[in-house]
Amino acid sequence: MIDTLQTKFGIPGAVAVLPGKNNMPRVTLAHRSGASAEIYLHGAHVTSWRNAASEELFFLSRESVWAADKPIRGGIPICFPQFSNHGPLPLHGFARINEWALTQTERLGSGEVVAALQLTDSDATMALWPHRFTIELRATLAEAALTLAVQVKNNGDKPFDFELALHTYFGVGEIQRAAVCGLKGVTFSDSLKNNAQEVEARQEIRFDQETDRVYLNTPDCVRIRDEARNRIIAIQKSGMADAVVWNPWIAKSQRMADFGDDEYLRMVCVETGNMATRVNLAPHGQWHGSTVLTAQPA
Ligand code: BG6
Repeated sequence: MIDTLQTKFGIPGAVAVLPGKNNMPRVTLAHRSGASAEIYLHGAHVTSWRNAASEELFFLSRESVWAADKPIRGGIPICFPQFSNHGPLPLHGFARINEWALTQTERLGSGEVVAALQLTDSDATMALWPHRFTIELRATLAEAALTLAVQVKNNGDKPFDFELALHTYFGVGEIQRAAVCGLKGVTFSDSLKNNAQEVEARQEIRFDQETDRVYLNTPDCVRIRDEARNRIIAIQKSGMADAVVWNPWIAKSQRMADFGDDEYLRMVCVETGNMATRVNLAPHGQWHGSTVLTAQPA
């Protein structure tokens, strides 16, 4: 199967379909600048994004499980059609534990490299969530940016609603020297305080304890300042309402079997999507949202 996909979708010097961990199929994207990305068909999960200097920008746990029925820990899990435990589905929905189809690869005239993956309803998803749908991730790698465009289509004759998140794990040099900026004045729901709502008072969110917050209707640009690596990552969303900031800190890291006890020191999740503001889709309706990630020296 991997060979067939490589024959159909490989582009010399730009796209390759290769066996990844546990022989799971992965697509690698290479930009002529030296930037690269890697996406597993399992979950359409982006597991790596490197800049032109080949520095990894994402966090990927050394303890991640690589199995068909488990999510990958790190990179960008796609949570759909449910975020967290907001409903009866498996945590964060089923999209991250299903194999998606690779549907398109392309090198644009501008040099950007694109891969599109889709997940459509199956007997297994219908048994969990009785709706006809297609979700597509279109990842575009440029010299200094990774764009993730998501489209959801309702292929059925009845409306449905959903939640969605690009649950991105960014790598940071040292969590105590990292800050998330751009959320001052935004109302958040604190998952660690029974979803009590408060307004963010800080210009810079810093980390010295477990943090698990859904920020509602956020400004479209949030930044991570990584002082240890002298880097700023900008997270620019469009068509997506909310953002989550998450770091498990010490005790939760120890509780998570697929996460190293000390790994909370080197990551922060800044997630974009519609985690609180559900999207309603009319029969045959479509929804689009996107997030553009850029990394620059501070
Ligand atoms: C975050 C949630 O988005 O994902 C956290 O806000 C959760 O509550 C975290 O712990 C990780 O979830 P999971 O299912 O990948 O362990």
